[in-house]
Amino acid sequence: GLPTRVRIHEVGPRDGLQNEKALVPAAVKAEFIHRLAEAGLTTIEATSFVHPKWVPQLADAEELMALIDDVDVRLPVLVPNERGLDRALGLGAREIAVFASATESFAKANLNRTVDGALEMFEPVVTKAKDAGVAVRGYLSMCFGDPWEGPVPISQTVSVSRRLMDMGCDEISLGDTIGVATPGHVRELLDTLNEAGVADDRLAVHFHDTYGQALANTLAALEHGVTTVDASAGGLGGCPYAKSATGNLATEDLVWMLDGLGIETGVDIGRLTATSVWMARHLGRPSPSRTVRALSQK
Ligand code: HMG
Ligand code: MG
Repeated sequence: GLPTRVRIHEVGPRDGLQNEKALVPAAVKAEFIHRLAEAGLTTIEATSFVHPKWVPQLADAEELMALIDDVDVRLPVLVPNERGLDRALGLGAREIAVFASATESFAKANLNRTVDGALEMFEPVVTKAKDAGVAVRGYLSMCFGDPWEGPVPISQTVSVSRRLMDMGCDEISLGDTIGVATPGHVRELLDTLNEAGVADDRLAVHFHDTYGQALANTLAALEHGVTTVDASAGGLGGCPYAKSATGNLATEDLVWMLDGLGIETGVDIGRLTATSVWMARHLGRPSPSRTVRALSQK
């Protein structure tokens, strides 16, 4: 059966804006986050404490955190290493995410490490964060397919997920970074993860909509028992270190489906759509979300 409530992990300000060519001023990002919280989102991934040369779009993380310290929702941030963790903890971050890869090619492209090397880099981060009482999400990218390596074996994805769990991550977010997954693949991966001792209540799904499959994949995950879904307001996003990654599942498309199914999210779709229309105007191009387009033409 389907859940009665879903927690949406909003990634627009981080996964969305990290992929914009033009730099978005910190004040606009802060207004975006304020508006997302007012629309009812309770988890909003705010930014990343990564090397500023790797992701210049988020180089203003310090400035942004000061502008959103009045926002009363969960505000996780991405952290790749101890340097990033120290920066985040110094600004009062209460939730972090490390981000691993199921494939060697993407570990190298995204983190300049091997898969093992990246996990070694995360280990002290997770330990220190947990000691500080900070919740830790472990992202796993390229869970289904990889632009350089092709289809990714389920055993490979399960093995790295297991290692993230054993390291102490509270939750694993399964990333379909390039959007190639289909619902049968999602079900098979979740079945195999459950068999390996990773239960659905410790899992989130993170679909990119490159092939138009994100919503179908999400429904498959919900039917399986997953209740945390990542999405990006207006369908913003991609990944600068993965060719052919386009935007995430649009939060509005997700909320439209969940509203129709009678599944609670706490999100006001009208306010959310208005926010994405405002952001699209700022970025100078329309939102790719079908729901945003339909609701804003009414
Ligand atoms: P590296 O070049 O190997 O870095 O990059 P290093 O460890 O050799 O350090 C080199 C220099 O960087 C040093 O400075 C460090 O202090 C500095 P120097 O001594 O030379 O002056 N440095 C830092 N400065 C500020 N903050 C830091 C930091 N770390 C090192 N945190 C590194 C390794 C991990 C740093 C780099 O590869 C990096 O920053 N990568 C981030 C890439 C990224 O953010 N990608 C997007 C997020 S992942 C994603 O979008 C996928 C996801 O959405 C899920 C999905 O869809 O699949 C999550
Ligand atoms: Mg992503």
